[in-house]
Parts: sequence; structure tokens; C-alpha cells
Amino acid sequence: GLPEKVKIVEVGPRDGLQNEKTIVPTETKIQLIDMLSASGLSVIEATSFVSPKWVPQMADQVEVMKGIDRKPGVSYPVLTPNLKGFQAAVKAGASEVAIFGAASELFSKKNINCSVDESLQRFDEIMTTAKEAGVPVRGYVSCVLGCPYEGAVAPERVAHVAKRLYSMGCYEISLGDTIGVGTPGSMIKMLEAVSREVPVDALAVHCHDTYGQALANILVALQMGISVVDSSVAGLGGCPYANGASGNVATEDVVYMLHGLGIQTGVDLSKLMDAGAFICRTLNRKTSSKVAQATCKL
Ligand code: HMG
Ligand code: MG
Repeated sequence: GLPEKVKIVEVGPRDGLQNEKTIVPTETKIQLIDMLSASGLSVIEATSFVSPKWVPQMADQVEVMKGIDRKPGVSYPVLTPNLKGFQAAVKAGASEVAIFGAASELFSKKNINCSVDESLQRFDEIMTTAKEAGVPVRGYVSCVLGCPYEGAVAPERVAHVAKRLYSMGCYEISLGDTIGVGTPGSMIKMLEAVSREVPVDALAVHCHDTYGQALANILVALQMGISVVDSSVAGLGGCPYANGASGNVATEDVVYMLHGLGIQTGVDLSKLMDAGAFICRTLNRKTSSKVAQATCKL
């Protein structure tokens, strides 16, 4: 059966903006995050503590963390690839972080400049420090349904990395279809393999909508017991180290589908659409949310 409630992890301010060519003003990022929290979202990934040489768009991470209006009950996790990033994040006031690995060797090398095994060692260091500091850590696995450099990725490799992240103490594992190539067929096979190693209530799906499969993939994940879904307002985004990767599935579209299924999200769709309209207006781009497009024409 389907879950009664779904937790949406809004990744727009991070995954959505990290791929923008022109630097988005810090004030705009802060306003976006505050509008998203006003819509009732309970998790908003705010920024990344990565190298500014690698991702210049995230260079204002400290100012973003200082500038947002933290709503009680809302968490604002940030990406941390290594101990340096973790320490900077905590210093800037982050109370939750995410580490990000991959099921594919070549993607790991391109994205975080190390092998999968090396990344797991770095994550272990972060984990140890995070446990001492009482900071919850989420774990990402990228390329779970395909890699831009290696092509197909075996479900067993995804299960292996997911299990490692879970055993080191990540409270949740987000399975990323980085380039949006998956279909409900490959999603089911991958989730079957992963859920043999990690309890399904500790899993999340993170779908990019490159091939238009994201909502279908999310629906099968829900049917398999997953109740955490990552998405990005207005469908913004993509990964700078995965060429051609388009945005995450739009949060508006996910909320519309979930409410249609009678599933609670805690999100006010109309306020969410205000946030989407704001960021699209500011970036001077068209929304990728079908729901937002449809509503504009009414
Ligand atoms: P490296 O070059 O191997 O790192 O990069 P290094 O340790 O050799 O350091 C090189 C320089 O970076 C040094 O500075 C360090 O101080 C600095 P320099 O001495 O040259 O002036 N540095 C840092 N600065 C700030 N914050 C840090 C940090 N670490 C080192 N944390 C590194 C390795 C991991 C740093 C780099 O590869 C990196 O930053 N990668 C991040 C890439 C990224 O952000 N990708 C997008 C997010 S992942 C994603 O989108 C997928 C996801 O959405 C799920 C999905 O869709 O699949 C999560
Ligand atoms: Mg992503």
C-alpha cells in the first residue's frame, strides 16, 4: 500500500541552484529558502560546503546559512564532501549535513575527485566527528540507475554503497537517479536490491526528470514502501559533473500527485508555487513544473 504521509526533501536551493551559470545573489537564495519554509516544507537543503573552485555557485554558503530565517521544526541540511566541509558547516551553524557518494567509480572521480572506497573512508571520518557533535548525517548515492560515464550501473553496486553508508550511521539514504535515465522497471529492480540491505523506511528517492520518468519512478517507490522524496521547486537543477542532467522533479508536481493520492505532505501548494514563481522570475527562466505551467494558464 501507499504511505499515509510523505516527507519531501526540498533540494532546490542546493541541487537546483548549483548548476546555474550566473551567480545568483545571496539575498535571492535566502529569500527562496524562506519562501520554501513558509510553504510548510520541513526539510530544505540549503547549500553545499564544497570547494568554491569546483562549484562557484555555492561559494556564499556561510552567508546563506547566516541569512536564513530558521523556522522551528524545519531542518536545513547542507552537503559536506570531507572533514573540512563538515567543520566549516558546523561553524556556520548547520545542524544537519549530507555526505554524497556514488555507485559508479568514474562519477565519483569526476564529482568528488576520489574513488568510491576513498570516499567511504572520508565519510567515515565525517561520521565519527558528526556523532561526537550530535549532528545527523544523510547519505546520498548517485548514479543509482545509470552513470553519465559508465552507462548501466548494477543494482548490487548501489546496494553495496547504500549499505556502507547506512552501517556507518547515516539515518537516511537518498538514492539519486543523477541523470534521470531510470524507468519504473529499473527503479523496481534497484529498490529490490537495496531494500535487502537497508530498511525501506531509511530510504529516499532523488529523481532527476531528464527523461520524463520521475513521477512514475516516484510512484513505484511509494508502492514499495518508500516515504521520503527529494525534489526541487520549479524543477530547477542538475549536477555540474553530469553533463545534460536536467533538474530534479519539480516539488509542485510531486505535491500535486501526492495530494491526489490522498497522501499528506504538510505543504501548501499555492505558497510553494509562489516560491517557484519568485525564483523563475528572478532567474528569468520558465518553470519546469507542469503544475505551475498549467495553473498559469487557468
Ligand atoms: P580536491 O581538489 O581533490 O580537494 O577536491 P583537495 O582536498 O585536494 O583540496 C583542493 C582545494 O580545495 C584546496 O584549496 C582545499 O582547501 C579546498 P587550495 O589549497 O587549492 O586553495 N577544499 C575545500 N574548500 C571548501 N570546502 C571544502 C573543501 N575541500 C577542499 N569542503 C572536493 C575534492 C571534494 C573538495 C571537490 O571535488 C568538491 O568540492 N566537489 C564537490 C562537487 C559537487 O558539489 N557536486 C555537486 C553535488 S553532488 C550532486 O549534485 C548529486 C546529488 O544531487 C544526488 C544525485 O542527483 O545523484 C547529491
Ligand atoms: Mg541531484
